[in-house]
Amino acid sequence: MPPLRVIIVGAGLIGPRHAQSVRSNPNTQLVALVDPSPSAAATAQQLETSYYPSVEALLQAIPRPDAAIVCTPNHTHVPVSKELLAVGIHVLVEKPVADSLAAGRDLLSFASHQHQHHENHPTLLVGHHRRFNPYLLKTKEILSSGSLGSLIAINGLWTLHKPSAYFAPPTDWRRNASSGGVLSINLVHDIDLLHYLFGPITRIHAERTLPQRSSPPHTAEEGAALTLRFASGVVGTFLVCDATPSPHNFEAGTGENPMIPRVGAAGDFYRIFGSEASLSVPDMTRWSYDGQVEKSWALPLTVETFEVSQATPFDSQLAHFVEVVRGEAEPSCSGEDALRALVVCEAARKALETGKTVDLEGDVIGANL
Ligand SMILES: NC(=O)c1ccc[n+]([C@@H]2O[C@H](COP(=O)([O-])OP(=O)(O)OC[C@H]3O[C@@H](n4cnc5c(N)ncnc54)[C@H](O)[C@@H]3O)[C@@H](O)[C@H]2O)c1
Repeated sequence: MPPLRVIIVGAGLIGPRHAQSVRSNPNTQLVALVDPSPSAAATAQQLETSYYPSVEALLQAIPRPDAAIVCTPNHTHVPVSKELLAVGIHVLVEKPVADSLAAGRDLLSFASHQHQHHENHPTLLVGHHRRFNPYLLKTKEILSSGSLGSLIAINGLWTLHKPSAYFAPPTDWRRNASSGGVLSINLVHDIDLLHYLFGPITRIHAERTLPQRSSPPHTAEEGAALTLRFASGVVGTFLVCDATPSPHNFEAGTGENPMIPRVGAAGDFYRIFGSEASLSVPDMTRWSYDGQVEKSWALPLTVETFEVSQATPFDSQLAHFVEVVRGEAEPSCSGEDALRALVVCEAARKALETGKTVDLEGDVIGANL
């Protein structure tokens, strides 16, 4: 089969990383970079690809690409994805799927209509790439094998310090309450993973961390302590904060982001508790009383560690995108999955603002918070 002709829309921090994956996959061909920013033409040149300032300009100049990866700011995900789906281009949009629940629902219904009625049947996937991280895949395998017994609880951390340059123009959207903030930029990843591992979250409470940055210009939240309840009865606590020097986060623990130095086991970010054993991630250590006469705090724990394979999640996600476009797989993270994660982040925001617990029973995708 000929390689899929792929474009990258948005050439800021993450777009070029996706572009590298596209260039290294024999089943994909990078045909262009689209971005109105004056610096994007040079980025396209470095990536040895064509440059267009807009999707419209690209469509006028070259034959329709097969697929696009949308790497633009959160508030543009919906209009940009709709523009692409409207002409039959398959879309992998970066997380979060949208900057509001209403916009996310609008995109899902548009994507579903296009999938059914456009001759090309374009599909929408959302880039919660950590579902492809080998540590996560191993964790999912261990939980699914029943090796921890009945699942009881999860304790998670996403804590680190973002530098001030991260919030400076032209990326100051990240510091505004309406377009940025640690809940929709970062927590959304972990919420998607928690859904993937434990099923839907049905109740959430949140307490704000003490702000460390000056407001104005920073109006977005910096962190929160959350309590979670899942439909399965599993309960959880999660601490998220982007204003503290700390190794306890997914990126430092797994080393998946080349920008953030890896600390390995010291970056401990998930502890999962079951009736037969507990598991810590990313040291992938299982603690149990296997081999003992009984499960008792007076006995030494049996320690087992699991090996994790090597893979680059962005590359695995792209390989999956190709399979979905070719009709060989269903999306690992659909628009609905991504909207569910966004609903929980919105609920966390609401809990922060009102000081009240938010229940998410029933049709969370259709519900108004
Ligand atoms: N999966 C991950 O781990 C991960 C990591 C970082 C960012 N992201 C997500 O990726 C997206 C982009 O983040 P970033 O940090 O690269 O942002 P960024 O601000 O660095 O880059 C965004 C780029 O999009 C361009 N742009 C804006 N509007 C556009 C439009 N209509 N058409 C084409 N280009 C447009 C801007 O000029 C800019 O170059 C965000 O949604 C973010 O949440 C995901």
